[in-house]
Amino acid sequence: MLYKQIACAIALSAVVYANPEPAPANAAAAASGGTGTTLSANAIQSGSFNDGSNEVGAAEVGQAKSLTSQNNFINNCAGKTLTNGLQITTGSCNGITMGDIPAKTAMVSSVITNPQTGGSAIASDTSFNITVQMSNLVAGQFTNADATYYSAPQALQGGQVVGHTHVTVQDMGKSLNPTTALDATQFAFFKGINDAGNGKGLLTAVVTGGLPAGNYRVCTMASAANHQPVIMPVAQRGTADDCTKFTVSGNGNTANAASNNGSGGVAAAAAAASAVKDPGPTGAAAATTAAAAKAASTGTGNAGNAGGKGGAKAAGGAGAAGGAGAAKGGKGRKQRRRSFIA
Ligand SMILES: *[C@@H]1O[C@H](CO)[C@@H](O)[C@H](O)[C@H]1NC(C)=O
Ligand SMILES: *[C@@H]1O[C@H](CO)[C@@H](O)[C@H](O)[C@H]1NC(C)=O
Repeated sequence: MLYKQIACAIALSAVVYANPEPAPANAAAAASGGTGTTLSANAIQSGSFNDGSNEVGAAEVGQAKSLTSQNNFINNCAGKTLTNGLQITTGSCNGITMGDIPAKTAMVSSVITNPQTGGSAIASDTSFNITVQMSNLVAGQFTNADATYYSAPQALQGGQVVGHTHVTVQDMGKSLNPTTALDATQFAFFKGINDAGNGKGLLTAVVTGGLPAGNYRVCTMASAANHQPVIMPVAQRGTADDCTKFTVSGNGNTANAASNNGSGGVAAAAAAASAVKDPGPTGAAAATTAAAAKAASTGTGNAGNAGGKGGAKAAGGAGAAGGAGAAKGGKGRKQRRRSFIA
């Protein structure tokens, strides 16, 4: 690790020597606090001097003492793996300041306008748009995520955070109401929205090819230009982001799920394949969802697809074939219900 940091310091020096002419970046640096390597007197924040236990405001039960620093933690990352503009998957320490924070009257806010909450299921394997209406974000601003990740502070323009948002879609498996936190390393669809949309905060991400049938959550992640989550001025506020849970229902053809190369498609296809052999209890909850009920009444075979990763998916495939499918699906549900009760 030490070697790495020395190498890094040398590399940085090399950049400085190789680039003696003042570049626009230097002008920006000057505008945002200069190029000095020590903390300026007028930048010192005495708020970091104390741990909060003797300050104004009633100490709340269980309140933790803050770490303190006389130099605003400027060397907090010394000796640690530095983030250094990279997305370091094993963790790191980032020493760049948080930056400019908007007024309470200009806090970032988002609402997902599609898919809609409680809306009808989206057709599987069919392109659709995720749309989000934002306010108080100068959208469409993003820096090189491979070289400048978290490497500069949040900035404002006209009092609003300069940045972009992302949408991330995760497969929730058999239920719209899972009780286990989703695995944050897994997503069925992800996109940084790097354009300014309609110029009035309405941003769109096209999910080309759509998603396999299943239960999903879509969330936004609003960021400053250098990809850090937006920082807001007060603790008590509405969230900057939005999430919606939605259902994608298919035609019961599991081959469609397999043809979607997203992780959800692969998982669904694998689950469907194993469910054919062994209709397990995992589909039980899904079989009771609204999608399943709808499928049962329409005979489209959606009941199976509502199973997502569960065993019901295979039954849904049969359901698509028609009336005979209902019998198969019913059988599957009966088996699963027994397991569920047991
Ligand atoms: C999705 O968004 C794109 C780009 O904004 C647009 O051209 C297209 O018509 C939209 N599709 C739907 C179904 O709204
Ligand atoms: C899925 O991935 C495979 C292997 O990477 C590729 O050959 C195939 O064309 C992809 N299919 C689609 C629909 O993108």
